[in-house]
Amino acid sequence: MYANINGLKMFYEDRSSSDPTGAIVFLHGFISNHSMWRNQLDFFSIRYRCIAPDLRGYGGTTVLDQSAALVPYAIDTLADDVIALLDHLGVKRANFCGLSMGGYIALAIWRRYRKRVKQMLLVDTRALGDTSDTKANRARQIELVKTQGVRALAEEMLPKQIAPQNIPRLGKEVRFMIESCKPETVIATLTALPTRKDMGEWLRRVQVPTLIAVGEHDVIATKEDAQFMKEQIDDAELVVIPDAGHLSPLENPKAFNEAAYRFLRS
Ligand code: MLT
Repeated sequence: MYANINGLKMFYEDRSSSDPTGAIVFLHGFISNHSMWRNQLDFFSIRYRCIAPDLRGYGGTTVLDQSAALVPYAIDTLADDVIALLDHLGVKRANFCGLSMGGYIALAIWRRYRKRVKQMLLVDTRALGDTSDTKANRARQIELVKTQGVRALAEEMLPKQIAPQNIPRLGKEVRFMIESCKPETVIATLTALPTRKDMGEWLRRVQVPTLIAVGEHDVIATKEDAQFMKEQIDDAELVVIPDAGHLSPLENPKAFNEAAYRFLRS
């Protein structure tokens, strides 16, 4: 489905049972799209209204007017897009489930639109801002995409996105997901990510129940990043998803769905 949102033609999935017990908004990460949540959409739409947008410039979401094209893809801007979509759909409050960059967006929504957040699921993500090494790496990756294209980035990122044992099963799909990203979107995101707010200091103020999930083998947002968030957030639970890397909901959907379902029902 599509909606005109903030100068975008925004694609989103909106699935639900006839009598949903609430809404879950699934927010994908960098170089991805809503399809990374395919197992969760199948599983959770039996009881919940599941909304999974393609974020600004990703998947089926295209920039409609030039003014929107000029807006940097800052996390707060992506959060505004999601809230505008929920306004369009008449959803006042929801559970927000974000992976990595999607987790940054969930935290930005909590910071700026607190009343809209029922519970948070922060998946393979972190709260702290970029280190100088991360910033330098993003600058290098911008050059890589400019000179060699998104394919070269896919080559580099695939082994970091999923655990080695899952590459034979999921490698083709994840590579396709990365290679489908538009270079201008990838560059705009890499430019904006270092400008996001460091949320380290804010976590102690989070009062909504929060599930922190991390893939056992995640090398991008690590178990230490997850542990830090667990220690700071008052009402937080931490679950390590076995046999999974950075895309834990896709890599081990059974373990992820069970943990998320238990959390949402409790
Ligand atoms: C993601 O998967 O969204 C990225 O790893 C986020 C980041 O690079 O900070």
